[in-house]
Amino acid sequence: MTMLEIVRGDITRFPAEAIVNAANKYLEHGGGVAYAIARAAAGNVQEYIRISREAMKEQLGKDSIEHGEVVVTPALRLERFGIKYVIHTVGPYCGGVWNEDKKEKLRKAILGALKKADELGVRSIAFPAISAGIYGCPLEEVVKKFKETVEEFEREAKSVERVYLVLYSEGDYRRALEVP
Ligand code: APR
Repeated sequence: MTMLEIVRGDITRFPAEAIVNAANKYLEHGGGVAYAIARAAAGNVQEYIRISREAMKEQLGKDSIEHGEVVVTPALRLERFGIKYVIHTVGPYCGGVWNEDKKEKLRKAILGALKKADELGVRSIAFPAISAGIYGCPLEEVVKKFKETVEEFEREAKSVERVYLVLYSEGDYRRALEVP
């Protein structure tokens, strides 16, 4: 039995204890789901960028993150949906190219967030389709990698019981459901 559930929704109001942001390495939150999360959490994108970068300095001691590294920030206004944490992770930039290198970077990005959620002691975590937007990776391949990586994680999961992959558009949701 897999703990991964594919759902349609808006991750900025999805009732999981942790939500994941598809960030860039500098936590700039300039567009896509990153911008939406930053605006919804802090009411002001610049303010959430400031909070994120400060957290990055504190947690990693540097100004950028690699695939597999994550940064945690408080959910602020999103707490009203039961969200406690935002876990920032960086997927690969594909620009239409999909190969072993992209696959491994995506696996690391997903696994890093799952492990952090376990460390934080949360029971549920929700992901957007990391890299399937501005970063231009094929949605079906991204969904496939989510399935494989969650299956890999399940064997070592301690507190995490449910993992949600939240698709924003109806079209993406339907395509994701078709992935074997
Ligand atoms: N809820 C769930 N999913 C969403 C939402 C939302 N509110 N808004 C957008 N999405 C979906 C997109 O439809 C896409 O399928 O999130 C997926 C990831 O898209 P992007 O946000 O473009 O992320 P990514 O492809 O990883 O590109 C990362 O975009 O915002 C910048 O700072 C970020 O530079 C980084 C880049």
